[in-house]
Amino acid sequence: MSTSSALVSQRADALSATEPGRRVFAYLDAIDYERRAAEPNAIDFTFGNPHDMPSDAYVSALQRALIPQHPGWFGYQTYQPAAQEAAAAGFQRLTGLPFAPEDMLLTTGGFSALALGLKLVADPGDEVVFNLPPWFFYEGLALEAGLVPVKVRIDPATLDLDVDAIAAAITPRTRVVIVNTPNNPTGRIYPPTTLRRLAAALDDASHRIGRRILLLSDEAYNRIVFSDQQFHPPAAYYRHTLVAYSYGKTLLAPGQRVGYLALPPDLPDREALRPAARQVQGMMGCAFPNADLQYALPELEGQVIDLAQLERRRDLLVGELTRMGYQVHRPEGTFYLFPRSPDPDDVAFARRLADAGILVVPGTVFETPGFFQMCLTASDEMCQRALPGFAAAIRQTPAVAV
Ligand SMILES: Cc1ncc(COP(=O)(O)O)c(C=O)c1O
Repeated sequence: MSTSSALVSQRADALSATEPGRRVFAYLDAIDYERRAAEPNAIDFTFGNPHDMPSDAYVSALQRALIPQHPGWFGYQTYQPAAQEAAAAGFQRLTGLPFAPEDMLLTTGGFSALALGLKLVADPGDEVVFNLPPWFFYEGLALEAGLVPVKVRIDPATLDLDVDAIAAAITPRTRVVIVNTPNNPTGRIYPPTTLRRLAAALDDASHRIGRRILLLSDEAYNRIVFSDQQFHPPAAYYRHTLVAYSYGKTLLAPGQRVGYLALPPDLPDREALRPAARQVQGMMGCAFPNADLQYALPELEGQVIDLAQLERRRDLLVGELTRMGYQVHRPEGTFYLFPRSPDPDDVAFARRLADAGILVVPGTVFETPGFFQMCLTASDEMCQRALPGFAAAIRQTPAVAV
């Protein structure tokens, strides 16, 4: 896609043409999303935006953080030590991995943790391997850093990583492999067997090409894990891992931008990486979290949205959709479902749902046709009200031979 404006730079023009970000916005425009989502009866399963009020505990933590305790309270920030300590302790509680506070490089959310990770270790022209379906913005982040995106499909039957395909995609220019677990949009948590095979493949490939390949582990959902499941941190399997985290999901407050890029304790070169990261972050436009969020972080660390409620929604929707004839993997974590579209034309199917007032995202916009994504942050009431529409939509879909 190119614009006709003489004012838009070639760089901005190229970025607005990236997939699947471009397709998401094109799809939303095509279904007139803004208007439909604002309708009083809208059932909105698109995107991880809140549809319930934030908790009192969350709001109180922010209110307290806004009261200045000295003149420099709202001065320039890099990393507040108390926030770094809280982040390291929280990650250790979750994973058992002893990350050092000074290695928790606080960022404006997962977005800038990923951007920082890429810019910190990869140079223009280096290749970045990631899996399809991807999080929407990996391609744009890679291109913005001057890197070359290389896409590998997951195993569509199991929704697990295809480690052989990742290994086959590695070339002498590969510098980073991005893995997202628990995964948006499939809801899969990659198991130890997969992570072990991935680590062995990356070690082999690094030796073969004579350059270390880094794993960028996008763990935005590592605390959104259902009760019968466990998160397996990739950093426990491969020491050349950078961890990207966002508090935007755990707290369901993505407009409050805070997260981190974390360096594992046994990653070589941390002494050099830390100051380099601070410099890169500064030149990314001072991409450090706002002062109030840093002060609030020690309190926010212990908070998490109502996981039992998400689990009830998962169980309701997976159960009911399956009963209606949909094929849907029961997600182990995240707040997404990724059912197969009963109509091979997933865009047409999503549009039919939109006409029935149910807003979902077709898999085509994730470069993964034949599926659609729905987000469990829709309210309980929306989930209930959607059921007749889903039943009608599958009934109206002509049966196809598979
Ligand atoms: C897989 C994944 N990674 C990273 C992000 C970025 O998180 P944030 O918007 O909180 O920076 C998201 C947000 O949707 C995501 O789903």
